[in-house]
Amino acid sequence: MDVGSHGSRLDPWVGSYARRAATMTASEIRALFAVASRPEVVSLAGGMPFVSALPLDAVSGTIARLVTDRGAAALQYGSGQGEPRLREQIAGELMPLVGVATHPDDVVVTVGSQQALDLVTRVFCDPGDVVLAEAPSYVGALSVFAAYQVDVVHVPMDDEGLDPSALRATLDRLAAEGRRAKLLYTIPSFHNPAGVTQGSARRAEVLAACVAAGVLVLEDDPYGLLGFDGVVPRALRADSEEGVVYLGSFSKTFAPGLRVGWAVAPHGVREKLVLAAEASVLCPSEFAQQVVSAYLSEQPWWDQVKGFRELYRERRDALLRELAAQLPEGTRWTVPSGGFYSWVTLPDGLDATAMLPRAVTARVAYVPGTAFYAGPAKALGRASLRLSYCFPEPERIREGVRRLATVVEAELDLQATFGPSLGVRARGAVEVPGPETA
Ligand SMILES: Cc1ncc(COP(=O)(O)O)c(C=O)c1O
Repeated sequence: MDVGSHGSRLDPWVGSYARRAATMTASEIRALFAVASRPEVVSLAGGMPFVSALPLDAVSGTIARLVTDRGAAALQYGSGQGEPRLREQIAGELMPLVGVATHPDDVVVTVGSQQALDLVTRVFCDPGDVVLAEAPSYVGALSVFAAYQVDVVHVPMDDEGLDPSALRATLDRLAAEGRRAKLLYTIPSFHNPAGVTQGSARRAEVLAACVAAGVLVLEDDPYGLLGFDGVVPRALRADSEEGVVYLGSFSKTFAPGLRVGWAVAPHGVREKLVLAAEASVLCPSEFAQQVVSAYLSEQPWWDQVKGFRELYRERRDALLRELAAQLPEGTRWTVPSGGFYSWVTLPDGLDATAMLPRAVTARVAYVPGTAFYAGPAKALGRASLRLSYCFPEPERIREGVRRLATVVEAELDLQATFGPSLGVRARGAVEVPGPETA
């Protein structure tokens, strides 16, 4: 093939890409994850739900009946807003669990909540607009923001989630600079990657600050039903119909492979989301939606959610026990009360990105903290890493933490001999993650 004057032998189209594609760079840790997915490596990296715990025979019966009884409809195109019966179930059965009263007309079904993140950003953000996000934040959201050339401003969190006074200070600083954030992107419950949950008083403060500043809240809640004490936190959306777009997902409570999520949005926003969704995918998979709808109506799905909570709690306990028993002094971690993740901060001077190749060689994988920050803020994540406990069995978690502890000890020995490794510059570009790091 001819190589154009702006191209290269590897990619002759390099000179033709849109400016937004410049931010779409594969993460340097991707290659490592190819190795990390080998069976001999204990992966504490990916956030894959343990779908093997589903009653697969029963699910298969539901799908078979669906095709036999309603195949012609289930295999047809559907509505851009989503299947009406599923929207009724979301509005009538799911949303009340997080305290939200809504109408099926205000629900937009999406291809996972990931597509909803894309649609909301597309509808609201021009290049250079500001989006506020927790520090750290969900890697998949950061790659959406990067694709729309959004300026992500991180807001600090602590063990109770987003810090409202830091949020107010950030809003004031932006106002003083003559800038206004378009969105606050937040994961109030069982945060990915921080593993923390916001209490109700803080939620009210966050909402009040955003309402006062005219900032729309984008509330991402895929883990809300997976609290280990059985309490489902009340969504921010429950206290503001006009100020919050709520995102839900069946990925963590049923099956991510079906790619079914949803948005509950203020009326005008909902219209825009539907038009944007139609331009993007015409309609979400009718088949997948009908599978979810039939699962909800035929199977004891709430018992299944309770089963998932138990399973993940047991794995969380295994992780926390082992971290306490194995990790050297100076290591800190969050104690998640639900969801899939704990955020670990290494002893002073250690660099989780630099350590990753050594960890993978020792047959354990994690996601380094830098992946969860945008732009120059990446440096903030260098001492940290995310561990997920959702997929490996407790015995594998124990072995994984044992291996990790050996690697951290070896890093401390290196540091004692050669000085701290936190001197290496983190890359500024936004790293597009593979699904394995999501
Ligand atoms: C916080 C958060 N938001 C959104 C998603 C995307 O989920 P979905 O499978 O519904 O697209 C994930 C997946 O890991 C997530 O952790």
